Amino acid sequence: MSILKVAKLGNPVLRKVAGDVPLDQLSSPLLQKFIDDMIETMRDYDGVGLAAVQVHESKKIAVLEVADNPRYPNKPAVPLTVLINPSITVLSDETEEDWEGCLSVPELRGRVPRQKTIRVQAGDRDGKDLNFVAAGFHARVIQHEWDHLNGKVFLDRMRDFSTLTYLQELARHWTDK
Ligand code: NI
Repeated sequence: MSILKVAKLGNPVLRKVAGDVPLDQLSSPLLQKFIDDMIETMRDYDGVGLAAVQVHESKKIAVLEVADNPRYPNKPAVPLTVLINPSITVLSDETEEDWEGCLSVPELRGRVPRQKTIRVQAGDRDGKDLNFVAAGFHARVIQHEWDHLNGKVFLDRMRDFSTLTYLQELARHWTDK
């Protein structure tokens, strides 16, 4: 496996809508290795999610996992999940605001409103159907990654930039982190 280079804000790949993955490509060893590399890259950077566009591949693939993460302490665990061609349905009007960061927007955090409860439909890495409800932080991570696959970053979702904060200042001045 290898750790992939993460594209930073300003790289046009982050602003393109990613292409669907043809399901018959999932059996390709190259694509399976790419998914393994995405997982290794996410873990190496202490990310809770990673979209293929962030590692320069404009494909609708995202991985997520939350487990004792130093960048996001005290968040509920989410098992390792691979989402191929995900789609999201909003299940209630309720939104909640919380801090988000992004490996493509290093050192910054901002408060982002997100839908509280969503239904997620996707394929897994073997092409089997996934269909589940996600809420709270789990739903937030999926919406963040889904945005990446549609050329958006969390900054686009902030109400305004008054909470945009460097990590060091977050630790100094914001208590509700
Ligand atoms: Ni991100």
